[in-house]
This record gives sequence, structure tokens and C-alpha cells, in this order.
Amino acid sequence: MIYGLEPSKAERQALRKELIEYTDDFLEALSDEPAYVAGKYDKTAEDHQFEIDGDIKSFKEMLQLMVNRVDRTGLNPASGGHLGYIPGGGIYTAALGDYIAAVTNRYAGVFFASPGAVRMENALIDWVGKTLGYQEGFGGNLTSGGSLANLIGLFTARIAKGIHSKNVTQAVIYTTTQSHHSIIKALRVIGLEECILRYVDMDDNFRMDASALKYQIESDAKAGLYPFLIIANAGSTDVGAVDPLDAVADVAAEMNLWLHVDAAYGGFFILTTYGKQKLKGIERADSIVLDPHKGLFLPYGSGIIMVKDVHHLLEANSYEAGYMQDTRDWHQEWSPTELSPEMSRNFRGLRMWIPLKLHGVKAFEEALNEKLDLLQYFCFKIKQMGFELGNHPDLTVAIFRFNTGDENRDAFNKKILSQIHDDGRVFISSTEINHEFWLRIAVLSFRTQKKEIKILLGIIKKSLDTFYYSKKHS
Ligand SMILES: Cc1ncc(COP(=O)(O)O)c(C=O)c1O
Repeated sequence: MIYGLEPSKAERQALRKELIEYTDDFLEALSDEPAYVAGKYDKTAEDHQFEIDGDIKSFKEMLQLMVNRVDRTGLNPASGGHLGYIPGGGIYTAALGDYIAAVTNRYAGVFFASPGAVRMENALIDWVGKTLGYQEGFGGNLTSGGSLANLIGLFTARIAKGIHSKNVTQAVIYTTTQSHHSIIKALRVIGLEECILRYVDMDDNFRMDASALKYQIESDAKAGLYPFLIIANAGSTDVGAVDPLDAVADVAAEMNLWLHVDAAYGGFFILTTYGKQKLKGIERADSIVLDPHKGLFLPYGSGIIMVKDVHHLLEANSYEAGYMQDTRDWHQEWSPTELSPEMSRNFRGLRMWIPLKLHGVKAFEEALNEKLDLLQYFCFKIKQMGFELGNHPDLTVAIFRFNTGDENRDAFNKKILSQIHDDGRVFISSTEINHEFWLRIAVLSFRTQKKEIKILLGIIKKSLDTFYYSKKHS
């Protein structure tokens, strides 16, 4: 069947039927499908069907190709068994938002073009800002993810603090080795690679030491350098560490530095009572990054940058162009293009707005509380099995390993990891800290329940019995 570029109503219905069958089958099978399918994945004959060669395919054939060569290969981030990296899951109702946004194709970049779409996105920004504890005058932007949100936040800091080619090599940035690599990437992209980057000491839980931070800033200032930016974590990727935000904000305020908080993973825990305590002080940050595709369980493609004073965001991003003059007099709302480097972009607010309205904020709070409990449960059980934890988890990430007491420790833990990957029902990842290997669990998918945690514990126990205790006693 060859479709014109504008399928008829009947054709749309036929296409949708196949689409719904495919997505329903996907979701119905999800709890029985592996979270990870290990393999080397050399290119097969079937993979050549991805290539654009002028051939026409039926939608059914394409969906079958998806099943065979996408859905059944590698990691399945939609699975509740996804306990690696930073999961999220991808709530179904967000997909409805994406569908509507793509069909209607509203241009949510400028208020003039789509006042309704921009107003909806700004309502989301307003909710996030108030939830974080910002007062009047803040602003923000919905981005494609945390990396881009970090980039915008750090660029805004650069402009606000007057860093330019003449002073860049004297300018000093403070963070910890826990910061996500997107921070370092962003610094390079925005021309701050030549700044002096100080990795501040951390406590035993990988949290920034605020006293060490203050001491370092003072000595740099005395040496004639220009300390201007602190980058703190509210849920580091490696271990989920939350820096002491209030104490760090005190230092930033006293020494007049910009405080950027990367809360891409941890930010939405502020919806919980526990998270509100943990993240106390975040409202004092000049810029904050959050990822709804993590803490609000949206499908990939949703980050947020929030800035305490919207004028800084505006100063860093706003540009004039003759061909945009018709839009100039529309100031009832901020337009996303004024607050971000992006121009044309999808109407990405809808995928967040629909779930928040349809399920209510409480549903997200409850799911996040459940993840906090599951991580505690896992930690309790794994310690009972003789494993050591590398941190006292602040949120829902923990690192752990079995200490064999000899030089085989890392190799042994790698073996456990490959057993988990070969089994595939659940997936965890690993990390390296101070040149040592750690197993790492991140509980954040809204689909993760006790069942998945028990499967993981079962595989680990079996590996321990097979490769450690049975060897020891033989
Ligand atoms: C703390 C933190 N910051 C930034 C990022 C980058 O976000 P994204 O993958 O959405 O670009 C991540 C990703 O896991 C993260 O955990």
C-alpha cells in the first residue's frame, strides 16, 4: 500500500490500528520481556532494511522490523527491570502528548505564533519554579534533556558574570569529581574550557565539603584569580549524592559566585517530604537543571533549565532578527526562543502537561516515595548478603561490591555483573571510583516494583553461591 503524504481518514485509521496493536503488544509483554539482551550485534541482513534506498515498505513490515531489530536488542529502558544508569520508564500518557504535538505541529517557540502552546509551557515552568521554592521573577525553558539544560545554565552564568576572552584564564569554577560529564562538555562548548577548574574535596558520601569550597575560593581570590561559578549536585549520577546545598549557597552568597545546581536526576524528589529536606537550599541557586525524563518518568527528550532571575536567561539568549519583527510586540508571556539557543522545536510541553493534569502531582510523589523505599530495601538485603555499600544513599542510587578480601575483588564483581547481564531479566550498570570497580543500582523507573529488586537479589545470590561459597568450600 502506497500512501500519499496526506493519508485519508480511512488510511489514518488503518495505520493507527496497526500502531495501537504494536504499542499495546509491547506494553502487555513488557513485564515478561528481558530488560537487557546481551550480544555483540553485528549487522544482519535484516538490519539493512533500516537503510533508505527508495524502497517502499508497509507499516506492518516496519513495525515487525522494530520488534525484531530494535525492541529485542540491547537495553530496554521502558522495562521495570531497568536499574542501570538513570532510568525513567516513559509513561504512556506522555506519548499521547507527543502524538498530538506532532499531528497539530504547533510552533511553541514564540508567543505570537502559538499563544496557547507557549502559555501552557510557561505554566509548567511556573509550577516547577514554585515547586523548587523560587520567588517571583524566575524563568526557565523546556529543553531536550539535562545536557542541553546544563549548557544553557552555564552559558547564562558566563554572561551574567562577565567572562570573556580577556579574563577567561583567570576565571575559576568549583565543582566535585561527582559532576556529570555533560558539565565538562558544556564548559568546552561555551568556551570556558580555559577556565581554572577546581575539584573541591568531598565527604565520605561524595558530597561537596562546603568549608573546603570556601577555603579554596578565598585563596584563589587572594591570588588575584576570579572565582565566579560553583556547580553543585542534587543527585549525582555516580552515587546520587546531594551536596549540602544550603551551606554551598551560603558560600556562593558570601563570595558572590553564581550557583548552578545539577538536579537532573534528583530534582523532582522535591515532590516528596524526604526530598524537600534533602534538597533544602536549592531555591537559593541561580540556575537549576531538572530532567522530567528521569524524575517525572517521561520518555527521553525532556529537560528543564530554571534561572532565578529570568533577565539573566534573556540576556544570554535573546536575539533580534528583521524577519522576526512581527513577533516583537507580543510580551504577554516570555517566548521559549528568547530564553534558549533553540529556534524551531517541537511543542514539548504537551508530553509533560498531559500526564501532570491526567494523573495529578500526587501520583508522582507517591511513585518517587516508592522508589526511595525500594532502594532502602535493596540496601538492607544486599548488606545482609555480605556486600559493602560505597555510600549512604541520599536518594535512589547506591554502589556496592562484594569484598573477596584479595586481589580478585574487582574481577569477582565484574563476574557478578556479567551474570546479571546474561540473565537479562533486570539490568544494572557499574562505575569506577578512584580506580575501583563498583556495582551500581539506580531505582527510578515508575515500573520498578519489589519483584524486580527480588529478581536482582536472586541473581546476585546465585552468583555468590556459585562463584564464591561453593569454590571456598570445595
Ligand atoms: C546528574 C545528571 N546531569 C546531567 C545528565 C545529562 O542529562 P541528559 O542525559 O538528559 O542529557 C544526567 C544524565 O544521566 C545526570 O544524571
